[in-house]
Parts: sequence; structure tokens; C-alpha cells
Amino acid sequence: MPKQTALTPELQTYWSEVANTFFWKKKWESLQTGDFNDVDFKWFNGARLNITENCLDRHLEKRRNKKAIIFEPNNPNEAASFLTFGELHLSVCRFANLLKKKGIKKGDVVCFYMGMTPELMIGLLACARIGAIHTVVFGGFSPQSLRGRLDDSKAKLIVTHDGAYRGDKVTPLKSMVDEAVIDLTTLETIIVVKRTNNPIEMKAGRDFDYAELIKDCDLYCPAQEMEAEDPLFILYTSGSTGKPKGLLHTIAGYMVHVGKSFKDVFQIKENDIFWCTADIGWITGHSYLTYGPLLNGTTTVMFEGIPNYPTPARFWEVIEKHKISILYTAPTAIRSLEKFGPEIPESFPMKSLRVLGSVGEPINEEAWQWYHKHVGKNQCPIVDTWWQTETGGIMISPLAGITKLKPAHATLPLKGVEPILVDDKGNIINELVATGNLCIKTPWPSLARTIYGDHERFIQTYFSTYKGLYFTGDGAKRDEDGYFRITGRVDDVINVSGHRIGTAEVEEAINENPHVTESAVVGMPHPIKGQGIYAFVTCNDHLDNTEELEKAIRDTVTKIIGPIAKPDAIQIVEGLPKTRSGKIMRRILRKIVENDLDNIGDTSTLLNPDCVDKIIKGKKN
Ligand code: WT7
Repeated sequence: MPKQTALTPELQTYWSEVANTFFWKKKWESLQTGDFNDVDFKWFNGARLNITENCLDRHLEKRRNKKAIIFEPNNPNEAASFLTFGELHLSVCRFANLLKKKGIKKGDVVCFYMGMTPELMIGLLACARIGAIHTVVFGGFSPQSLRGRLDDSKAKLIVTHDGAYRGDKVTPLKSMVDEAVIDLTTLETIIVVKRTNNPIEMKAGRDFDYAELIKDCDLYCPAQEMEAEDPLFILYTSGSTGKPKGLLHTIAGYMVHVGKSFKDVFQIKENDIFWCTADIGWITGHSYLTYGPLLNGTTTVMFEGIPNYPTPARFWEVIEKHKISILYTAPTAIRSLEKFGPEIPESFPMKSLRVLGSVGEPINEEAWQWYHKHVGKNQCPIVDTWWQTETGGIMISPLAGITKLKPAHATLPLKGVEPILVDDKGNIINELVATGNLCIKTPWPSLARTIYGDHERFIQTYFSTYKGLYFTGDGAKRDEDGYFRITGRVDDVINVSGHRIGTAEVEEAINENPHVTESAVVGMPHPIKGQGIYAFVTCNDHLDNTEELEKAIRDTVTKIIGPIAKPDAIQIVEGLPKTRSGKIMRRILRKIVENDLDNIGDTSTLLNPDCVDKIIKGKKN
């Protein structure tokens, strides 16, 4: 029996109409099959295409000389540069030929561990051109994290920079790669793009200089004809266990939803200059810095630096300089600039701005108002876009200028997305005004298809908590207008500056420190980052100098995961609250950290009720 579709006839018509606006070498045989019970959903099966023809080739006739990428370097005194669609097409072909020359074939995995320069975006598209699978590892992850991802993905080749600029620092990426790949047999080749000219070592036969290789590569490379459900990329993200999950996205569904959602949410116009400030190492940088804009023939801005370098006026200067019409950034960035006062953005008219976007974490009302007033001058709608690495594209968001806004609300689902709220017992909440766990009822095209190499974990994580539904891990409220307000994670994931960090991952890292017996990590409210990391730690020996111990613990976490997971507060405790069966009661610790002492609940049944008072007394914030 051929599998049935989970979609209503109306949605089937909708998605086929959307898909028909893209370029296919061969159209699909079935639009959609499978559901959240079988967890084997397919979109556009039987179709053949190449996503880079949709991002590049099909624009050449009308947009060959239009800017595709504007590159704004870290240092404002270094000239900005740009690539037209025509030039980007040639660069992608050339990079694709370089990959081929190094033995990369359809289905091979290529890793990118780079700063934000155009070569990174070109590299991803080069993979897609020849059917290789890209996996980007954010440059803020440690060599050890990189190694874990290289090992899991079995990448054959990695592209890196000698170093990456970030503000006044240089991250020595190549030497970090060297450390990551020691005795790793699956990785064969390292390609180094020179950027900072810091000293590096090159191992003969394994390491190659990008500039040397690329100059002999041909400027044309035919687009490999791919199946709709062939993989496009793997992107790792944290979950509730220590091991990061490699979410696998496939070509056609990802393309259709990302392309369409970009166009609708931001209400894209031909002359837009779109700036997404995310790093390409995160899903936002994949979907709305790279693929979304290019699929729509939109000029996308790539920024190498950070919001407050050399001064907290940098964002506004970049907006004026490149006449940016849409700014898509994270609440953390807004809050970190807010603290320097409204005078700074107020001294920039930013007349080119038309739409503002927010992504990655709940935006608090104050930050929303500040963004609206001082950046958007009360003229620009803010689209608060809710989505996830897993969802591939935006799921709940206002459509710029169309949806009536409500500060701090992601508002309504995009067409084709069916969110529902479920109570803790798994019952669907039918009342309009409600609070619950956010689930999605039916498949949409850009949902990840699996966790690379571990489909069972994929099923367990997303489709087992509530049978037949996709569970997001977020809590949400729905109001009388049917508007959603995302309240944050309800699982063991912390959202630090819009980046997802698993508590288990941090705990495992902390426990590597030889002085540590046990640890429990919870999220704490943080005025800028949204959430910070609070670690409770028990030690196996008495140490006079806890400051030194705290430093050692932070160093351990930095070494194992990377600086982004460094705890903001560490409290050394005698004991952690545990149930009689020995399970750490993180819920209690969370209440303590949130200063919600009235809701700690009954602690008398704990194995060690005394520890709770002691922990409260020694609290760090
Ligand atoms: C988690 C996903 C979305 C791409 C970047 C992060 C939180 C994301 C919002 C929003 C409230 C949000 C959720 C989600 N989140 N956008 N507009 N309002 N929360 O992707 O690393 O996969 O994290 O970010 O908690 O589950 P990610």
C-alpha cells in the first residue's frame, strides 16, 4: 500500500502551488507522505532538482549584476566588498570544482569551521552544487566539540580559516582544527582559507591552501541532479542528553519552506538589503542569511564582526552604510546595545529600515519597545519569529505590515503550520485562551527528517512525548486573538543569548574537573543573555580557595564545549537535593535560582532536605 498524505486537500493545493514557483528538473510524484506516527514523512518524493540552481542560476537572466552578498568586515576601516549573483555563481562553481578535485562526491560530508567571510557561504553552496552534505560547526565551539561532530558526521574534508576576527580578538581556528583531528581517521583533507595571517602549521598531503588550489579551478560546474529527499545538511544542536544531535535536513522541503517563509514574513521586495546578524554556524544563518535570501534573489549582508566593536554604534553604522532595509537580529543583541542608551541609535536616522526581526529567544516587552522606538523610529513592524533548528524555517511569526502586532508575541502560525497546545498529560487543549506545551499537528516541508545516524533518538525526542505530534520542547500561551507567546523551554535546555545549551552537556563537562563529584546546571534569569548558566557543584576534597576552583571549572567547560557554555555562576555546595531514589531535583534548584522560594514545594520527602536551606543561604545572585 502506498503511504497516505497527512495533509488536507487545501494544504496539498497550497504546498504544490508554492513548490511550483521553484525550478525543478523533474516534478514530484507524490507531494507528501507519512505522518508523526510512522515518523517517515517525505515531501516532493520523486522530484529532481538542485537547490543552487534555485539560488543562483535561475536569477542570472534578470539579476546577474545585482548584489547577492555584501560583506562587511570586522574592522570598519577595511573596505566592504560584494559579489553579484553572476560572480557568486562563478565562485560557487569554482569552489565546487575544488571540492571535486579533493575527492568529494555526492553524499560525502564536508565540515566548515570558519569565521564569517563569503568563502563560508560559497562553500556551503559548493557542497549543494555537487550533492555533498555540509555541516557547519560554530567557531565558538572548542576543538573537543568539533572533534565530536567530525566523528559523528564522518566528514572527509574540513574547510577552516587560519584565524577568525571577532572584535579585537583573533580565534586561531586552524590550530584548533589540528587539535581536533589528532588520530581521527575519517577526516582526510583540511582546506585553509587565509584571513588573519597568524602563524599556522600545514601538514603535507593533508592540509592545503585555498588560494593555491582555487586558482586552477574551472569557473563552471554543472549542478548535480538530486532527489528531493537527498540530504542537504547536518546541523548539530544541544538536547537533553550530553551528546549533541545532528539534525538532518533534506533538499526540496527545506528549500520550499525556507524560500516561501522568507518572502512572506519579511514581505520581500526586489530592492531590499537584508541583514541577518546570526552566524552561519546556527540555523538562522543557514535559512535566513544564506538560503532564504538567495532563493528569492535578495541581497544578503554578511557581517564578520560583533555588535559592540569597535563601538556600540556599529550596527547602526552598518545599517546607514549599506542602506539596510531589513534587520533580523536576536533579543540578546538588542539588550546588549540597549544598555548604552537610546542616544546612540537615536543619532542615526536609519531611513532605509523598513522591517525589523527578532529570533532565537523570547523577546521581553522592554527590549521590544526599545527596538521599535529607537531603531525602527516607530515606523517598522517587528516580526518576532519563532522556530527551531529542527523546524528548518520560521513557524510562528507576524507577516511584516500585515499581521497586527502585539509586543513580545510571535503571534500566528504561517500558512501550512498547525501549532497546538497540550497539557502535561498529553491532552490537546481546545480552549482558545490557554497555556501549555507547544506541539505541531501535521508535517510541514522543512522539518528535519532524522538525527544523523540515530533515527531512534529522533523518534524518542520529538514524537514520543505526545503520540502522533511533534513536540517542540517549548511552552507557550495562546490569547483571545489566537496569538502565541512563547514562554521558553520546558525541557533541560537553556537558551543563552539565543543559543541552545543542554544542561546535561554542561554537567558532563563540569564533572570532568578532577575536584568535582557531582553537578547540577539550571538556567537563571540574565538581564542581557535572557538566560545564564548557574552550576551547583559538589566537590570530593576540601578546597580553601573556591575562586581558583571556580576558574578551573570554567576552564574545563571552555575546553570541552567552548566559551559559550561557561557558567555565569558557580555555587559550591555540600549536597544537591535528591529524591529517595537518588535523582537530582533540578526543579528545586531552578526555583531557588529564579528567586521563587514560595514555589519550591514540599522538600520533606527528599533524601537530604537539609541541603535546601544551605543552598538558599549560599546563593550567588
Ligand atoms: C529555540 C530553538 C530559531 C532559530 C534560532 C534558534 C527559542 C527561537 C524564538 C522566539 C521565543 C524562541 C525556543 C526554541 N526561540 N525563536 N521568537 N521567541 N523563543 O534555534 O538553537 O534551534 O533554538 O529557541 O526556545 O525552541 P535553536
